Amino acid sequence: MSTSEIKTITPDEVVFTEATPHQRELSWRINSISWSHPLSLEDHLERGALLGPRGPERTFYVVHRRGDPEDIICAVDAVGKTALVKAPDAESPTSVQRVKAYGVAAVHTNPTYRKQGMAGWMLQKLQEAMDKDSEFSVLYSGIGPDFYARYGWDAFPALQVSLSFLGGEAAAQPTMPAGVKFLSREDIAPLCDKDIAKLTARFEEFPGDDGRTRVAFLPTFKQIDWQFERNAFVARKLRHREPENYGAVTADGSSWIYWVHEVGKDTLGVLRIVANGPAAVADLLRAALVEAKGWGFERVVVWNPEGDVEDAVRTMGTEDEKVVKIRFEAREGRLPCLRWKGGDHVDVVWEDNYYYAWC
Ligand SMILES: CC(C)(COP(=O)(O)OP(=O)(O)OC[C@H]1O[C@@H](n2cnc3c(N)ncnc32)[C@H](O)[C@@H]1OP(=O)(O)O)[C@@H](O)C(=O)NCCC(=O)NCCS
Repeated sequence: MSTSEIKTITPDEVVFTEATPHQRELSWRINSISWSHPLSLEDHLERGALLGPRGPERTFYVVHRRGDPEDIICAVDAVGKTALVKAPDAESPTSVQRVKAYGVAAVHTNPTYRKQGMAGWMLQKLQEAMDKDSEFSVLYSGIGPDFYARYGWDAFPALQVSLSFLGGEAAAQPTMPAGVKFLSREDIAPLCDKDIAKLTARFEEFPGDDGRTRVAFLPTFKQIDWQFERNAFVARKLRHREPENYGAVTADGSSWIYWVHEVGKDTLGVLRIVANGPAAVADLLRAALVEAKGWGFERVVVWNPEGDVEDAVRTMGTEDEKVVKIRFEAREGRLPCLRWKGGDHVDVVWEDNYYYAWC
C-alpha cells in the first residue's frame, strides 16, 4: 500500500467496543484479504456467520473511528474457555481449579490504518476487558513471537512432526491396524468427557510445591466440534465432500485420536491423542494415515510430539518407512503465546499444548 493510501489515526480518535453484527461483517470483509483463501469472499463471510455462534463463547471486538461506526480500524475475537490450573500451594497440594481463560483470535488491522500502533492499542484494551473475568489468555501468532511479547504474551514451544507419504512406485499404502475403528463426530463427545476426567486426575498428581503453575485447556466436545465444523465447512465448499471419520479408537476402547481435514493444506491435522503407550499411538496414527490417504492428502501432522507420541513416531520411522517420511520440525505459524492476567510473571507449564486448544 502506498503512503498516500494510509490514513492517519491516533487512539484519541477511536472507540474500542463489542462489534454489532454489521460491524462483524465489515471486519470479515476487511480481514478476507488475509484469511479468506482458499475460500471465496462469500464463503468466508458465510463461515464467519456460521462459526461465530458455535463453539466456546466468542466475543467480537472492533476499533472504529469515533462518530463513524462503519470505519473499522481493527478487530479481534476473544474466545472464553475453561482451563485447569494447578498453582503452587504447599498447604493444599492436590487442589486443581477450573478457571476461565481466553483464546485471542483474528487480530487484524485494516491495511489503511496499519503501523500506527492501533493493533497494540487494541490489544491493551482487550487485556483490560479479559482481565476482569479470567486468569490468563493465549493466542497463536502468525507473525512470530516479538510483537505479542511486547504486550506480555510469551511464546511457548511450537514444534510438530509431519508424516508425509512417500511418492514413487516403491511406496506402500497405509493399512488399518487390526481392531482399530474410525470414529464419527458423535462418537467423540463421550470420549471428551472421559478425557477431561483423566486430565483432571493427572493434574491432581502434579506436585503442588515446586513453584510452577500448570495449566491446560479442557478438551471439551464444544471446543473440538467447532474445529470439526470449521474444517468440514471448507471441505464441503472446496471438495463437495463431507468428512465422516473424525478419529479412531483402539479395539479395547482405551486409546483414541481425533483430527481435522485441512483441505486447503492437504493435511490431516491431529487435534489430540489419548493413549496407553506408544504401540497404541502408532496404531492410531496409522488409522490417521489411512484417512489422510482417502482424502488424497500429503501428510498427517501432530503438534508438539512428546512422550509416547514421540516414541511412537520414531518407531514408525523404521516400521512404516515404505509408507511415510517422518520429520520433526519447528512450526512456522500458529506459535502459542500465553499471558497471565495483569501481566503477572508466573512460571507456567502449559500442559497438552496441542492443536485441540487452538481457537
Ligand atoms: C499484525 C497486524 C495486526 C499489526 O497491525 P498494526 O495496527 O499495523 O500494528 P501496530 O502498529 O500496533 O504494530 C506494528 C508492528 O506489528 C508487527 N508486525 C506487523 N506485521 C508483522 C509481520 N508480518 N511479521 C512480524 N511482525 C509484524 C511489527 O512489530 C510492527 O512493528 P514495525 O512496524 O516497527 O515493524 C497487521 O499487520 C495485520 O492485520 N496483519 C495481517 C493479519 C495478521 O497477520 N494478523 C496477526 C495474526 S497473529
